[in-house]
Amino acid sequence: MLVYLSDWLSLIIRWFHVIAGVAWIGASFYFVWLDNNLREPPAWKKQKGIKGDLWAIHGGGFYEVAKYEVGPEQMPTDLHWFKWEAYSTLMSGLALLFVVYYLGNPGYLIDPSKLDLSAAGAMAIGISTLLGVMVIYEALIRSPLSRNGMAFGVVLYLILVAVAFGLYQVFAGRGAYIHVGAVIGTIMVANVFLGIVPAQRALVNAVARGEKPGEEVVMLAQRAMLRSRHNNYLTLPVLFIMISNHYPMFYANAYGWAVLAAIGAITAYARHFFNLRNQGQFKPSILVVSALATVALIWAMAPSAPARIDSHASEEGTAVSRVADADISQLLATHCQACHAVKPTSPAFQAPPAGIVLDSLEHLKQHRDKVYQAAVATQYMPLGNMTGITPEERDLLGKWLQENP
Ligand code: HEC
Repeated sequence: MLVYLSDWLSLIIRWFHVIAGVAWIGASFYFVWLDNNLREPPAWKKQKGIKGDLWAIHGGGFYEVAKYEVGPEQMPTDLHWFKWEAYSTLMSGLALLFVVYYLGNPGYLIDPSKLDLSAAGAMAIGISTLLGVMVIYEALIRSPLSRNGMAFGVVLYLILVAVAFGLYQVFAGRGAYIHVGAVIGTIMVANVFLGIVPAQRALVNAVARGEKPGEEVVMLAQRAMLRSRHNNYLTLPVLFIMISNHYPMFYANAYGWAVLAAIGAITAYARHFFNLRNQGQFKPSILVVSALATVALIWAMAPSAPARIDSHASEEGTAVSRVADADISQLLATHCQACHAVKPTSPAFQAPPAGIVLDSLEHLKQHRDKVYQAAVATQYMPLGNMTGITPEERDLLGKWLQENP
């Protein structure tokens, strides 16, 4: 019952998290687009202090958007702030981290072959990593390093790669991945909370007092710009990490942290193309290099065992010794059925994960391609190898699948 209810809870929070994230990132994409598409306004608007102008049509009506050089003469009574989108994304993300990873299925987070952590120990490492990296980032952005955008970017990248590497040594792949994503997400929300919103507040206060923004307000605004730029570069990797949780070929890869480092570098570089183009520089070579690097990554990650079952191989070598059905039934019972049963005995699951039931050889055949991929080629099943399957048993399973098309 508890698992059933916690599945509901995780679904509802995840749903909310995705909606909040869409609202946050959607709004920030929209404003980046807006800034890049503002046109020179007519003279009468310039006189009012408007520096850019844009017309759009959406949802059956015309919209006229204007951006002020500093601010309007009078503070509008209703001023919309974009901040709760970011805060609610973080809060629902943290809630999910608890429901799914800290209090939920330990197999996602703890891999005894890496480090035999207790649930509390894993949680302590996870939370302190989130906080620790945020504190380091906040210290750096207040340091002289923030005056050199490029150097800052490189240092930030190296820190995140080190975090990915470190987490990979202590957590199961999936838990390590989600924590890198959570670290980046926390930095991004802290950017809003600790930098961007205070800078906006200072500007609003100056305009409300009818003053021209002073030096301090300008400095805050400049630093907020840098934070905004970081968020802009971090968006694509963080979204990648969130969806990669459905692709064990990434997180269950022995070098999953390096894969993440490569993806981070490629997406940030590709993002650079669009940012440069918005500044009027057109460098398509950046996209070509990014595409080539992606192809290289796909090649480097390819599983060493054949990714598909080669059914013909068995016909040639017939009558050598076939794998006994009874051995495979036994293997499924020992290594898979705790989870992949109509009613799993593993306390972590209420229903068979991924909808895959492996309670008979017939059912095994139904899922042969997926099982081959999961348990033989990429070896991310059994989850965290909690049931201790041996390489010999994997070979046996692979051979049986070949012999029984
Ligand atoms: C401790 C529980 C557990 C055990 C034991 C386990 N699995 Fe899984 N299995 C899962 C979970 C959880 C998922 C869903 C993974 C995801 O969505 O990231 C899954 C998914 C799968 C999938 C679908 C993968 C996909 O990409 O769609 C296959 C196939 C699979 N398991 C096969 C096996 C086989 C074969 C065994 C035994 C050798 C096994 N599993 C043992 C928990 C388990």
